[in-house]
Amino acid sequence: MGKEITVTIDGKAAGRVVGLDRMADAGALLGGEPEVFVVYDENVSWVAAELIAALSGGVRGSIAIDASEEEKSMDTVLLICRSLLEAGASRRALVVAVGGGITTDLAGFAASIYKRGVRYANVPTTLLSQVDAAIGGKTGVNFDAYKNMLGVIVQPVYTLLCADVLRTLPRRDFLSGASELLKTFLIDNEDNHYEKAVRLLASDALDGPALPDGLQDLVFAAAAVKAGVVSRDPFEAGERRKLNLGHTFAHAIEHEARLRGEDVTHGEAVSMGMILAARLSDALGVSDSLEARLTQDFAFAGLPVACPYPTASLAEAMDKDKKAEGGLVHFVLPERPGSVILRDLTVAEALHALKI
Ligand code: GLY
Repeated sequence: MGKEITVTIDGKAAGRVVGLDRMADAGALLGGEPEVFVVYDENVSWVAAELIAALSGGVRGSIAIDASEEEKSMDTVLLICRSLLEAGASRRALVVAVGGGITTDLAGFAASIYKRGVRYANVPTTLLSQVDAAIGGKTGVNFDAYKNMLGVIVQPVYTLLCADVLRTLPRRDFLSGASELLKTFLIDNEDNHYEKAVRLLASDALDGPALPDGLQDLVFAAAAVKAGVVSRDPFEAGERRKLNLGHTFAHAIEHEARLRGEDVTHGEAVSMGMILAARLSDALGVSDSLEARLTQDFAFAGLPVACPYPTASLAEAMDKDKKAEGGLVHFVLPERPGSVILRDLTVAEALHALKI
């Protein structure tokens, strides 16, 4: 077993984030569970198979899902609930989600409502979900045209971070997660993890067949930052908003891409969104030449930096956030790696500062 951190809510331990060298080590943690049900993304059935083997016959049921944005719906949640019911899952059940953020959101939500709530655990299989989505207890589904409109915040009892499962991750998905890794270290840069992550991502270590040395430590360091933020602010009343660095712009970029039928991953949008956030910080005097620095670092790390859409065309989607929060958008403004501030601005004020 590797390192471990605890997510605490109101001073009480709510979930354990545990580093594993290989999935076989999961047996030592989950082996004593009376009723394990595995919900897995069919694209990573090999990880589910390794987990099931590690639990040597202790798994009562496994449910494959299509973990796509289109299927991130109540229908899929009900399908999981129905499968649990048919398999005889009791209130002692532990639902283990194996997959990326869509899978952990779906399975966590299903577990949170099944028989008024059973425990769940996450085995994130993408870099993005290891450093962000699988930690912190956000679960949910899309509803009508809105992303993540229905859901609850309930902490997973375990999040198992196994770097080995990333070895089959497509390069583009890996880079999508790299963007959230850098985001985390822009918020908290203890031990210069930001600079270390940029160097690792820029090196040719990622081109080899094995995962680069140091990746597992950086993933765990990012997970620890997130676990700390969530422990202090589980329901996003304040500090947790910092984790949305770059996301106001990113959501608008993703919205614009969908309208145009173009393919932009969440991480790519977050990368471009953080550059726009740095531009806004520079314009408001919160930072000095940060846009230039991040542009250089992110490009060096292989991430996209230039938003392909006119920034003015992003305003409408940003305005949608504004309506939800009484006229103001909670902008996260980076000062330098390791320090961000929160500032409420209207979209018009932000666009004015950006001279759009
Ligand atoms: N992905 C940001 C959060 O969990 O709060």
